[in-house]
Amino acid sequence: MNKIAIYPGTFDPMTNGHMDIVKRSLKIVDKLIISVANNLNKIPLLSIEERKSIIKNDIIENNIEIINIEIKTVNGLLTDFAKMNNATCIIRGLRAVSDFEYEFQMTGMNYQLNPDIETIFLMSSDKNSFISSNLVKEVHKLGGDVSKFVSSNTIKILNHKNSSL
Ligand code: COA
Repeated sequence: MNKIAIYPGTFDPMTNGHMDIVKRSLKIVDKLIISVANNLNKIPLLSIEERKSIIKNDIIENNIEIINIEIKTVNGLLTDFAKMNNATCIIRGLRAVSDFEYEFQMTGMNYQLNPDIETIFLMSSDKNSFISSNLVKEVHKLGGDVSKFVSSNTIKILNHKNSSL
């Protein structure tokens, strides 16, 4: 039986930290659906289409078998989306203790909404544990070098976005 997992996030933009979780998830599931959502508590810089195109580009650049991946937009509840896509688990990356409370709440709520869907946490690798999409955007906007954290394609898109703001 094929194990299908959802890897949800705002991905505004995807970072090397997210990509690390994608690569490691593929060691434990057969198919990963990277699910680009609008977190109602965040105002994204990039449109859903821009975020999806960054993810697709980064997957190709990282030589990840695209056949095992789908990139989709989540509208509505994540648990409904997971069920609709025959996924049995949600994958989340944990960077630090500070992530725990938020993830604990989301996992609890998702479990109440659909107890058939498990959440699996992968610890971020050391070198990625301090990266966040917001920090990447802030450092880039202020002229800092973010090439260790996102792809060169992402930097081009951020340059374009910031110059047109
Ligand atoms: N390495 C580096 N950074 C990482 C990371 C990793 N492995 N994993 C997460 N992050 C960072 C992200 O860059 C992001 O940083 P930011 O806050 O500066 O933007 C932060 O950690 C968390 O973001 P992300 O992983 O993209 O998730 P999110 O918290 O924005 O996503 C959803 C939340 C989309 C999963 C949630 O809102 C959702 O499920 N929405 C659908 C609607 C729904 O069902 N709501 C009810 C949920 S109970």
